[in-house]
Amino acid sequence: MEVKTERTIAYCLAAVLLVVGVICYTALAKKAPEQPLRIMFKNTGGKVLFDHKEHLSEAGYGFECADCHHTMEDPEEKPESCGECHTEDGEDGPKRSDAFHQQCKSCHEEGGGPVKCEECHAM
Ligand code: HEC
Ligand code: HEC
Ligand code: HEC
Ligand code: HEC
Repeated sequence: MEVKTERTIAYCLAAVLLVVGVICYTALAKKAPEQPLRIMFKNTGGKVLFDHKEHLSEAGYGFECADCHHTMEDPEEKPESCGECHTEDGEDGPKRSDAFHQQCKSCHEEGGGPVKCEECHAM
């Protein structure tokens, strides 16, 4: 084979590999967004420990992101925190503490999680 054709083949291969690499990188980078493991809510009712990972992992309670992050449309985008919309004065939808109480408690009433004040405000 001529040196020139070999070189052309080598360049083509390099170009193909580059494209494959870029595609793989974007595919992998577009996995599920980062998620917190546990969240400690500090508030006047007493600290609440929320085990985020346990609530969504298959080995745990197995909920979908959108079960809680109810405005989340793209499962690959990092959801906004609830407080972005549910502010202290609650202009848009329920105010912050009502939004949490309503969502946490209504699911617990159905699914068997804690509903008494001191079971959540345990610390
Ligand atoms: C059982 C309810 C629930 C489920 C299911 C859930 N989350 Fe959350 N997540 C929360 C709550 C509550 C917070 C705290 C939000 C806050 O502090 O405003 C939170 C916070 C987050 C945050 C931090 C947001 C920030 O910047 O403050 C990310 C990121 C996140 N969740 C991603 C996910 C993803 C991705 C999934 C699905 C794989 C998921 N969550 C499933 C309830 C849930
Ligand atoms: C992008 C803004 C936005 C984010 C982020 C958001 N919410 Fe909401 N939420 C709203 C609006 C607006 C409403 C009122 C209209 C509606 O029901 O959709 C609402 C309604 C609710 C309700 C009442 C639902 C009902 O059936 O009456 C609860 C409970 C709630 N949100 C909890 C949460 C929790 C918990 C989070 C975080 C995990 C969260 N929201 C994140 C905007 C948001
Ligand atoms: C979509 C349903 C759902 C939502 C929303 C939800 N939970 Fe739960 N939670 C559960 C289930 C199911 C259990 C497990 C019940 C059992 O089997 O004992 C649980 C258990 C718990 C427990 C006791 C065990 C543990 O994991 O520590 C705590 C504390 C708790 N949840 C806090 C919260 C808080 C705080 C929120 C709101 C920020 C919340 N949960 C929102 C379904 C939910
Ligand atoms: C399922 C868990 C859960 C239960 C049950 C629960 N809470 Fe809460 N509570 C929370 C969460 C989560 C917050 C939000 C913390 C934050 O704003 O960061 C909160 C917030 C509060 C706050 C602060 C409100 C504010 O406006 O700053 C008070 C006070 C409170 N709860 C009292 C109570 C009382 C009283 C009960 C019983 C009637 C109760 N909670 C039951 C989880 C719970």
